[in-house]
Formats: sequence, structure tokens, C-alpha cells
Amino acid sequence: MSQIRGRLNKDADKLTEAYTASIQFDKRLYPYDITGSVAHARMLAKQGIISEQEAQTIIGGLNSIKEEIEQGKLEFKPGLEDIHMNIEARLIEKVGEVGGKLHTARSRNDQIALDMRLFTRDAIAQSIAGIRGIQRALVNLAEANKDTVIPGYTHLQRAQPVLLTHHLLAYFEMLQRDVGRFQDCHQRTNVLPLGSGALAGVAYEIDREFVAKELGFDRISQNSLDAVSNRDFVIEYEAAASLCMMHLSRLAEEIILWSSAEFDFIDIDDAYATGSSIMPQKKNPDVAELARSKTGRVYGNLIALLTTMKGLPLSYNKDMQEDKESLFDTVDTLLATLEVMSGMVNTLRIKTDNMTQAVGRGYLLATDLADYLVKKGEPFRIAHDIVARLIGYAVSQDKTLDMLSLEAYKQFSPRFGEDVYSITVESSLAARDNIGGTAPKQVAQALANARKALEESST
Ligand code: ARG
Repeated sequence: MSQIRGRLNKDADKLTEAYTASIQFDKRLYPYDITGSVAHARMLAKQGIISEQEAQTIIGGLNSIKEEIEQGKLEFKPGLEDIHMNIEARLIEKVGEVGGKLHTARSRNDQIALDMRLFTRDAIAQSIAGIRGIQRALVNLAEANKDTVIPGYTHLQRAQPVLLTHHLLAYFEMLQRDVGRFQDCHQRTNVLPLGSGALAGVAYEIDREFVAKELGFDRISQNSLDAVSNRDFVIEYEAAASLCMMHLSRLAEEIILWSSAEFDFIDIDDAYATGSSIMPQKKNPDVAELARSKTGRVYGNLIALLTTMKGLPLSYNKDMQEDKESLFDTVDTLLATLEVMSGMVNTLRIKTDNMTQAVGRGYLLATDLADYLVKKGEPFRIAHDIVARLIGYAVSQDKTLDMLSLEAYKQFSPRFGEDVYSITVESSLAARDNIGGTAPKQVAQALANARKALEESST
């Protein structure tokens, strides 16, 4: 059996056959294709378009084909072009001519649109579950290190002290937005395109609502031309995945930096690191590096599909067959990255002492010192200037702020008094007591909120 030739008088050139076939990659859609066909056959029988007996024969055949595929017993044929034709041909082989009735009131155009939506809907659910996994890992790590303080950075320079928990929960927030984007994408994915036919609808009395219900769709598409040519939901998934990978790449980058000898804040578990083939002392953060890098291919997939869809005339065009490999690659990359990074975060060892030491260096309390002068009546801009000169002096003396005498302080402003020594890392943290700030009270609440969000999401 070969490709559908219809009115064509010759067999396809071997090169044409190989070039146009999609079975090598769309075979992955088989469970969705079969689920969709079963629902379609049920509807055909319910509407009296085929008999109940015929529907049972077709459905029985489809289920046994599913088993064959799962057991690796069905040999896919590139000559049959795609997953739809491979399954249909096998069905007719198994159940006879009646198998040819399955494609009544349907086209491969609305069939592939359906398969892609079912696949993407599953991918969305798996992606959200994967995100929940890494969020849980972050929350556990945050909870186990509640009192640990780190330097917060801007420009990768030590800036102000923050709780490690606060830093970790920043990633929780990013991932919450990612979940929101996937949920949003689900709404527009979960729409039934079947019943659109090739492009204009079908000339049978079908029941689209019935099929939608069978397949768990919330709505049915409202324009057949749009339904067969719409891949927005794939693009939306890839865009949400791109943003999520961007977030994961930032976490990965911090894991790489923090595990370097220069930072020495964390230790990656050996199970998530690799050695060097030449330098025996090396422990490389390959997992994090690859997570950082794979973000690029996920962006690439998004741009590739946007480019494929750009300027396409209505309605279905073969160009759209190119949506699959990029989507599959993005789903596989995102899910694998989420999973391996969850494992890595779950097993990270925090070097609390090194973090504490780093907070002690780098004049992280300079802002608090300026705030101190402001409270004594100095305008902030002048206070900033005074503290800048004071820090310059301390640097030249190779001293930390707590090592300076009160006389030294007073040389820069008469407003300094004995209470300047009560400015500490603890007072600095506690002062930032607004929603979203790093005060321990606020962070404890944020952690509780994060826990609650995770619990609610799993019920
Ligand atoms: N393999 C095709 C695709 O992925 C299925 C739809 C084919 N439709 C057609 N009229 N050739 O887009």
C-alpha cells in the first residue's frame, strides 16, 4: 500500500515519498489518534451514519491496533505517509472494508488538529506537574535553611543582606507565573476542532458536542477554516515553555556560580555532577550547564514555528506538518529539565558558614547606615554621600564597619552616636518589613503561602 494518489497517474518519486512523510515522528501521536477515532466512530453510530455493529467492529480493531503498537508489533510504513493513514490501512487490513467507514465525515486536516490538541493538553498537564516538583524542592530547601542569610546581589556585586529563603522563593514566584501561563494555554487548547472536515465543515449530521464531551473538551471550535489552520495553542505552549526554561536557566546559572570555588556557597550532590577526563580534581555542574543551554533550543523551536505559520494562506497547508518535531522536542526538553533540576535542588548542600562570612564582607549594611542618618534628620541624598565617604575610609583602613571607632564615625557626621553599633545584619533584615520584603516575619509568611499554594494545587 502506498500514499493516497487520488487523481495522480504515477507513484510518488521515492524522494517525494521520503520528503513528505511524517510517520517517522508523528507515530508518537498514535494514542491520541486512536482515542479521537474511537470517539468519532461512536458519534457516527449514535447519529446513524454507520451502524452500531460497524462502530463496534471499528472500535475493536482500533483497540487491538493500539496494543500492536504498544508491543512494537506494528511496522509503520513511510509509504503510508503519516500516523492517520498507517492506522487506517491497518484497520482495513484487520476488519475489512468496514474499516473504510471510519473516515466518514472527517478529514486528516481536522484529525491532525485534534491529535495535536490532545497531545498538547497532556503536555500542559505534565509540564505543570513538573513545575510543581521543582517548586516543592525549592520550598523544602528554603524551609530547611530558614535562618540562613546571604548577600543579595545587584550587578553581581554584594548589595544588601537577604534571607536565603527569600532568594529561593523568588524562583517559586517565577514558576507560579509559568503555571499560570500553562493553565491559560490549556483554556485555548481544550477546544474540539473535529467536525471541521477538510476546511468547510462536513456534509453529514454529526454531533460535535457529543465528541467534545467524549474527549473532555470544554468547547468546540466556531469556524472550520480557522480550526484546521490554527496552531496558536502549539505556539502558546512553546512560548510558555520558553519562559519557563528562561527561569530554569537563571536558577541553573546561580547553581553554577554558587558551586564555584569563588562563591563556595553550595555543594552539588555527586549524583548531579560529572568529572573531567583530564583534570582529576574537577567536579563539573554539567546538569545545570545543560539546563542553561537547552533554553536556546526551546527558543529556537518557538521561532521556527512562528516563522512556519507566518503568512500562510487559509486554510490547511502542508507547511503545518512542521509543527510536530519542534513541539515534541520542546516538551521533552522542558520535562527532562524540570525533573533533573528538581533532583538537583532536592539534594543541594548549603554551606551556611560561607554564606554568613560573605554577608560580613562587602559593606552590605551601608544602606542601613544611610537610613540611620535619615532617621536623625539628614536628607537621604546627603546621607548617601556621607556613608559613601565613610566606606571609602573604611576600605582604605582595611576595616569593616563594626571595627570603626565612634570618633571615626563622627568625623563624617556629628549625627552618629553609640547606637550606630546596633545596626546589624539582623536589624537590616527586620527593617525590611513590608510585603515582598526580606524581614524574617514576611518571609515566614511567604513560605507558608507557598506551601499552601502547593497543597491546594495537589488536591
Ligand atoms: N501529516 C499531516 C500533518 O501533520 C496530516 C494532515 C495531512 N493533511 C493533508 N491534507 N495532507 O499536517
